[in-house]
This record gives sequence, C-alpha cells and structure tokens, in this order.
Amino acid sequence: MNVRPIKVEDLVGMQACNLQNLPENYTMRYYLYHAMTWPSLSYVAEDHKGRIVGYILAKMEEDLKDGEEPHGHVTSISVLRPYRRLGLAKKLMVQSQEAMATVHRAAYVSLHVRKSNRAALSLYRDTLGFTVKDIEKGYYADGEDAYAMRLDLKSQT
Ligand code: ACO
Repeated sequence: MNVRPIKVEDLVGMQACNLQNLPENYTMRYYLYHAMTWPSLSYVAEDHKGRIVGYILAKMEEDLKDGEEPHGHVTSISVLRPYRRLGLAKKLMVQSQEAMATVHRAAYVSLHVRKSNRAALSLYRDTLGFTVKDIEKGYYADGEDAYAMRLDLKSQT
C-alpha cells in the first residue's frame, strides 16, 4: 500500500471512499477547492493497482478568530474496511501534519470527531496524541455531539 499526495484525478476515488465510509459528505467542488488551495495537505492510500483505499482531506483554517494562530484542519479521513488496522490512517495523518507544519507553519492541527467514534478517537488520542479541547453539542446533522480535538505541531518541527 502506497501513501502519496493527491492529484486532481484522485478526487472521484476519494469521494467514493468517503461516501462508503462516512455520513459527512462533500461536493466535488469542495474536494477541488482543497486540492487547488492546499495541494500538499491531502493524501491518498492506494493499492497495488492504484485504486484508492483511503484518503485524508485537509486544509488550513481560513477564518482565524482574534489571536488565533495559523492552524491546519482535517476535514475528513477514512480507510475502506478491508484495509483498516494496517496503519494507513496513521500514515495519512502524519504526512498531512508534517506538511501543515513545514509548508504552512501551522501551530497545531484541529478536527472534529463523533463522541461515539471509538476507532477514530483511539487513532487521534492514543496513537497521535491529540487532546479534547471542547465538546460541541449537536455538531452533526443527526444531533450527535462532537469532540473538538487538537494536536500541537510546534513541538514536532
Ligand atoms: N478500534 C480501536 N482502535 C482503533 C481502531 C478500532 N477499530 N482502528 C484504529 N484504531 C487505533 C489503534 O490505536 C490503531 O493502532 P494499532 O492498530 O497499532 O492498535 C491506530 O488507531 C492506528 O490505526 P490505523 O490502522 O492507522 O487506522 P485505520 O487505517 O484502520 O483507520 C479510521 C482508522 C480512519 C478511523 C477507520 O476506522 C475508518 O475509516 N473509519 C470510518 C471513517 C471514520 O470514522 N473516519 C474518521 C471520522 S473523523 C474525521 O474525519 C476528522
């Protein structure tokens, strides 16, 4: 399995992967916006035939509030079921985090995750060292709360 930066021709495969794995879905225009604006922050995992089996879609936060430092944000990450627990999500996260820190001087990376998402929570908290900054009540369309999580990147550069 190979992890590499995205190309525009990957976007359809990324969207297909997202539709299979998550209820939070995005327009092709939004994928394209990420790819054109922050090309170094999104990555795909592909199998030996070049089929996309996982992705991370990430960006720099644009609407900084007063005093907020520049930071990255993970819009979405997922891996197709047969390819899970192989370390792909960890690799996708680490590559994107490194680019956020080195290319964009991000102070930290943020993301939202459902309170019930045990696998993702374990990836973020236990494997990568994220901490919970806040609980956002009713963040998701179905009313579930989100953990707003964060990982400092300054100590990693
Ligand atoms: N249960 C418990 N811990 C888990 C699980 C699980 N099912 N999956 C991963 N982890 C943790 C473990 O600590 C694991 O390390 P280990 O295998 O050495 O024990 C660590 O995360 C790294 O696992 P990876 O193999 O890198 O993770 P994987 O490639 O399987 O992908 C992911 C994890 C992305 C959460 C996958 O399960 C998935 O696609 N789920 C559905 C989509 C999803 O929930 N995406 C995240 C939404 S939040 C967001 O997008 C910002």
